[in-house]
Amino acid sequence: MSSSISPGSHQTLSADAGSAGQPVDVVVMAAGKGTRMKSRLPKVLHRLAGRPLLGHVVGTAAALGARKVVVVTGHGAMEVEAFLQATAVTGGPFSSENALACVRQEPQLGTGHAVQQAVPELHDDGVVLVLSGDVPLIQPDTLRRLVAASGGSKLALLGMTLADPTGYGRLVRDAAGGVTAIVEHKDASEAQRAVREVYSGMMAAPAKKLKDWLARLDNRNAQNEFYLTDVVKFAVADGVGVAAHLIDDGLQVAGINSPAQLAELERAWQLRQAAALMDAGVRLADPARFDQRGRLTCGQDVAIDVNCVFEGDVALGDNVTVGANCVIANATIGAHTVVQPFTHIDGGTLGVAVGADNLIGPFARLRPGAALGDAVHIGNFVEVKNSTLAHGAKANHLAYLGDATVGENVNFGAGSITANYDGANKHRTVIEADVHVGSNCVLVAPVTIGAGGTVGGGSTVTKNTAPGALTVARGKPVSVPNWQRPLKKR
Ligand code: UD1
Ligand code: CA
Repeated sequence: MSSSISPGSHQTLSADAGSAGQPVDVVVMAAGKGTRMKSRLPKVLHRLAGRPLLGHVVGTAAALGARKVVVVTGHGAMEVEAFLQATAVTGGPFSSENALACVRQEPQLGTGHAVQQAVPELHDDGVVLVLSGDVPLIQPDTLRRLVAASGGSKLALLGMTLADPTGYGRLVRDAAGGVTAIVEHKDASEAQRAVREVYSGMMAAPAKKLKDWLARLDNRNAQNEFYLTDVVKFAVADGVGVAAHLIDDGLQVAGINSPAQLAELERAWQLRQAAALMDAGVRLADPARFDQRGRLTCGQDVAIDVNCVFEGDVALGDNVTVGANCVIANATIGAHTVVQPFTHIDGGTLGVAVGADNLIGPFARLRPGAALGDAVHIGNFVEVKNSTLAHGAKANHLAYLGDATVGENVNFGAGSITANYDGANKHRTVIEADVHVGSNCVLVAPVTIGAGGTVGGGSTVTKNTAPGALTVARGKPVSVPNWQRPLKKR
């Protein structure tokens, strides 16, 4: 069964990243069960650096300029296909009509059987690159070199040398050093098990030849599976060259089988991202306590304290300081702004924009659509959602600004809120420039507080106020002189 996912309109990538102009079609094997994850979620949908494993692989295939990506699904196929559909629709990197397709493999009879399912979706020309959905950190440059090693005529195997090759397929070479077979660990002899050169699970082959070899696979082996790795034998028998492209970056070929491996690869990847940021001059208090789950762009002299998490697209301007334990997602932070500890900024799909010279937090919360000008102060336990605050506006303590337009130099008092929701609809509050809102006020939207006005503490304001006016909307103080409190009965 196969289904094509037609993407929306996205950035177009060149489709000629193969060697010598060879088009590259990618097969991603993602049908396996992932038993050791002990999870209801399909293994390839578990996240590394905030993104499903399969998302990394499919993204890499797109970055490579693949003409087509065919994902083989099986276990959890519905969920995996739904994820791919969503990826393709929401800004995925695919451009042409049939760039991404799914084929089902049911039951799962091995890696060779998996790739066989993709054959009807594969062109006859060009190079087919086989990847695994659970090997997330393979990089486009490595795959370009693998495709180049195939050159459109050879079978190219991505391999590495491991101190402990247990469990992997071994690269078996002849006296002249040519690779003649991949032997699975379970099928290997003692002598073969001593080989430390292993197959990574990734290969590139001329499409037409690969299709021919796939048709010749059988399952006469220790696991009664159709091994993709058996194509090596057929290449040798057909006189087709076999190239082993060995790399020594273990992260790129590390597969995920268990929660422990996922955590280990996550940390290794985070350390690598941290190192790249520090190379660019970013000062991380501790690279081991830093998490980047998306894209983080930093200006000069950015300092980030421990235990901060950055998600989605985040840009920090020059001299931005981020205190300990902040979570920042989909936001831009202007130069010289200080984000104090325990601040949560989540721009969601609308984004959050913080201007220059702001003071945010500690314990502040900025939600989607918060847009702060320069020199704005947002203090502890202040929540801002879908609101603009102009230059110099301040809300320093215990406040809520939702669906509000806040003018320059407004001071929004402690405990004050905009009541933006009437139980059915949301309405806007406009607080014009230089307004002073006292403590514990409720501004009931829709309402406008005129420029330069003052709202007395404890007021509930339900009507627009004139510029320059003092508005007090609360019970008049009542004071009874010499009041005698009741006495306890004896
Ligand atoms: C495979 C290789 C082995 C290599 C190792 C590297 C084969 C026969 N062996 O072994 O040489 O050293 O990868 O990690 O290819 N899958 C399917 N359908 C199936 C079986 C697997 O889609 O019927 C998918 C899995 O979801 C996974 C990938 O193929 O993404 C690899 O499968 P896995 O079972 O992990 O292969 P290994 O036994 O590790
Ligand atoms: Ca594996």
